[in-house]
Amino acid sequence: MRRAAGEAAAELVEPGMRLGIGSGRTVLALLEALGPRLGAGLRIEAACASRESAELARRLGVAVRPEDEVGALDLAIDGADILTRRLDCIKGGGGAMARERLVALRARRFVLIAEAGKLREDLTDAAVPIEVLSFGYKDAACRLRDLGFSPALRMAGEKVYRTDNGNPIYDCLPPAGKSPAALAELLAHVPGVVATGYFLGLADEALVAGPSGVERFLAPENR
Ligand code: A5P
Repeated sequence: MRRAAGEAAAELVEPGMRLGIGSGRTVLALLEALGPRLGAGLRIEAACASRESAELARRLGVAVRPEDEVGALDLAIDGADILTRRLDCIKGGGGAMARERLVALRARRFVLIAEAGKLREDLTDAAVPIEVLSFGYKDAACRLRDLGFSPALRMAGEKVYRTDNGNPIYDCLPPAGKSPAALAELLAHVPGVVATGYFLGLADEALVAGPSGVERFLAPENR
């Protein structure tokens, strides 16, 4: 189903586009689906949210540009860990949410791609990844606890996991009784917090692959 979501998203890509490419396995499926067209001469420029996406995109023939030089993007496509039918989502399973947000914000149109198993009624109670500055990251955990989060430091084997930005991530169960929007607002003011996985009201549409095909969801303001 990941492949079906990637293939459906690949159909949105047109010659000459400036594309924002997120990260994760569904995005890699999108790139693989674009592979034959790229091989046959499709030319696109892209900004990529992770080293892994950038490497594959380059190998397939995409002109990958530095984020600061790419300018406005026509379209950004990215995966999600959990999403609602209103297109609010939680990202960061792969640790790339800081760059993913910057890429998405640069695009005129932001499309999520996911498997139907990731759909939820709402995001309340779902764990959210929070990237914190490496400097003083243990203090940041105390601040998150003070807000009622239960932070678990993400590990890579024996070592502290590091994002492409060199920072650790806390996977945080949220406090009860607060909406994701309220929590995102609180987190925006916590010293040391670099990025959170809350992507609320950002996506324009989603392509969600289920057993009976790919369903297209539009953000409330686009319906
Ligand atoms: C990366 O940090 C994430 O936000 C991914 O976009 C998200 O985890 C979806 O990944 P998969 O497509 O691998 O499920």
